[in-house]
Amino acid sequence: MITREQVMERLATVMDPEIHKPITELGMVEAVEVEGDKVRCAIKLTVAGCPLSSRIEDDVRAAVAAIPGVEEVSVRLDVMTPQEREDLANRLRPHHVSTITKKDSTVRVLICGSGKGGVGKSTVTVNVAAALQSMGRSVGVLDADVYGFSVSRMLAARQQPAVLGDGVIVPVDVHDVRVISMGMLVDENTPVMWRGPMLHKLVDQFLNEVAWGELDYLVIDAPPGTGDVAISLSQELPKARVLLVTTPQEAAARVAGRVAQMAGKVGQEVIGIVENMAYFRCPNCGDAHEIFGRGGAQRLARELHVPLLGQVPIDPALPVGGDMGEPVVWSHPETESAKVFLAIAQAVDKATW
Ligand SMILES: Nc1ncnc2c1ncn2[C@@H]1O[C@H](COP(=O)(O)OP(=O)(O)OP(=O)(O)O)[C@@H](O)[C@H]1O
Ligand SMILES: [Mg+2]
Repeated sequence: MITREQVMERLATVMDPEIHKPITELGMVEAVEVEGDKVRCAIKLTVAGCPLSSRIEDDVRAAVAAIPGVEEVSVRLDVMTPQEREDLANRLRPHHVSTITKKDSTVRVLICGSGKGGVGKSTVTVNVAAALQSMGRSVGVLDADVYGFSVSRMLAARQQPAVLGDGVIVPVDVHDVRVISMGMLVDENTPVMWRGPMLHKLVDQFLNEVAWGELDYLVIDAPPGTGDVAISLSQELPKARVLLVTTPQEAAARVAGRVAQMAGKVGQEVIGIVENMAYFRCPNCGDAHEIFGRGGAQRLARELHVPLLGQVPIDPALPVGGDMGEPVVWSHPETESAKVFLAIAQAVDKATW
């Protein structure tokens, strides 16, 4: 004889893929009916048209079907009322909404920064995040490049995040990485024309009002240079570590040095340097050609007394992966560039914080 309790016990193993809590705890189980060997479940989604609804449905079905004796499982999907959503937001807020900016936060915050634009910060952000995820870490990615957002495209995470109530934004789940980007809130072709205080407010919301859940890492794609957003980030996250991205060119490395100085002023430590576009390996002869010169990143690392954590080659698969929303670390982990990203993530993971 199958009991309702058995079914609820199984449903408690089904996690909401975005909030990362059991659906039973989130009040998403509306009804459970058992009739002989048939089980009917009604599940309330947090928002209508939830892109992950089929995953929740499949997970519910699989969990209940695993009870010995169950022959048939039917799942009906409903949507929470605004009041129910608000109640859920109220329950989540104290526990679940970010504690990242709190002094005692245990989340490792990694800011990918650079002096110049276009050196590959966003590429490094998504691939290092993907590498940390593939190592089993729970990872969030915050795109703090408000004007030049690109993380949403690079991770194919363009859907609007669910907002459960005042001050509880649910990050979009990509392969178990939780993502928030300006690119989810505006059309990709719309220029963002905001001034300092509004940028500060947005970054503040992304840090404090997103239900990041329990994270090991929050990887932040910072805008290039030392502008308003970079200053906001450094004020809110004095314990963050900065991963400096540069190209081999002297000029790029010098400007990156200025970002390191700013980080240093607020007590943020530079964890290491990533030299991107370090060389191109000829597919015919196998030789590495240093197209953008050499030595800039190495010299910067020496000056700052930090390690050069990796040299990422020029790899035509990187822009392709970026446009398709598939970081090479996930799509082509066997490639030279993916291995460098994995090594960087491992070094980050081994560092003491
Ligand atoms: N190692 C690489 N090999 C080939 N292409 C690369 C490499 N790294 C980055 N790119 C490409 O160069 C372009 C710029 O990279 P990316 O957007 O990551 O830089 P960024 O520093 O974030 O730039 P922005 O300052 O505009 O935000 C992208 O088209 C990206 O796909
Ligand atoms: Mg970028």
